[in-house]
Amino acid sequence: MEIYRGHIVYSKNKDELVELTNGYIVVTDGIIQGVYKDLPKEYIDNKVIDFGNGVIIPAFSDLHVHAPQYPNRGIAMDKLLSNWLNDYTFPLESKYKDLEFAKQVYQAFVNDLIKHGTMHAVILGTIHNPATDFLMDLLENKGIQAYVGKVNMDKDSPSYLIETTDQSIKDTKAFIKKHINNKYAKAILTPRFAPTCSFKLLKELGKLAKEYNVPTQTHIVESLWEKEEAKKCFDGCRCDMQIYDETGLLNVQPFIAAHFIFPSEEDIKLLKDHNGYAVTCPDATTNVIAGIMPTGKLIDTGINLAIGSDISAGSYLGIYRQVASVVRLSKLKQFYEPENRTVHFNEAFYMATKSGGKIFDKVGSLELGYYFDALVIDGLEDSFMKLSPIQLVERFCYAGDSHHIVHRYLRGKEI
Ligand code: GUN
Ligand code: FE
Repeated sequence: MEIYRGHIVYSKNKDELVELTNGYIVVTDGIIQGVYKDLPKEYIDNKVIDFGNGVIIPAFSDLHVHAPQYPNRGIAMDKLLSNWLNDYTFPLESKYKDLEFAKQVYQAFVNDLIKHGTMHAVILGTIHNPATDFLMDLLENKGIQAYVGKVNMDKDSPSYLIETTDQSIKDTKAFIKKHINNKYAKAILTPRFAPTCSFKLLKELGKLAKEYNVPTQTHIVESLWEKEEAKKCFDGCRCDMQIYDETGLLNVQPFIAAHFIFPSEEDIKLLKDHNGYAVTCPDATTNVIAGIMPTGKLIDTGINLAIGSDISAGSYLGIYRQVASVVRLSKLKQFYEPENRTVHFNEAFYMATKSGGKIFDKVGSLELGYYFDALVIDGLEDSFMKLSPIQLVERFCYAGDSHHIVHRYLRGKEI
């Protein structure tokens, strides 16, 4: 058993952040047994690990990130989606046919993910199996809870980064089977997005989803261009989400819909009815899409929401900065489109922790029964003005960096 003392902040629900000043967390076998304002008498003789003025918070969940795009983070930001893909992203992704290159990048990527306090993630690889297998094994061996996808793209893609429909299905099946007994890192179907996937490919993926009970991630209504391209998928297609409904890809949960910036009423209904997740990637959408998710409106529909770094359309791996960006962008959205409401910090923090964490095990909160997947943040206070634990967390999200994360725990083990 371990007992930790420090300030404690976690989400109880989307509206409520719990704050304990100088509280205690009791953990056994990596699972939280209790969170206390005062240490109960029965534990009084136990050793206490004291974090001083540090704040214990849940580790983050990144529900949309492209591991192969890690080398492009923070560069090549001068174009919008279609040109950005063609000029910068596809050429980089084609390099992952070289397994040695992939190994170097993926090791650095996973180390950096942990450094930034992300212990659970939904990750896109490339079309290449050996590289994506390596990424999966790396995460599994580190015990990081993840969904990892071998990307599918069989049309309207450059000649150096395209598969035949048959090869795409064959490789996807091999990928699923290879990792079927994994404990932590699991396979997820990853049709890149409607513009680069034939209807035939998607129907075949739907069969694999059913046969192996594998969920799906993709990009949904991420730009007005993409929204229109999606409707060309099959005759009579009304909206992006309908494509995944028709092909059976919404039936296995969780369905991960990255961006979801321009959804129709039907897109929203389909995602909600299938308990899917809309994942906002605020930096990515401003960097290469120039669109802002109607996050406040979506929260009020009761849809599941989470946050993604979307490296390298997004430029920063730390999800805490994205929490700040969600709030910031909601204000811009409301300013230019007043029918939208702003998003509160508590709601954004919930998206990044407890809400996103729901697709994994019991992670994303510090309540009884949750895994102690936690971070201790420190060094954010001033000598001249006292801040509450919640204010320290807010400052971390707006003005913090990975060096403010002084301890990282994964299922009770410090890493
Ligand atoms: N749409 C299709 N591929 C991508 C990608 O790699 N990044 C982003 N942000 N959107 C995409
Ligand atoms: Fe993306």
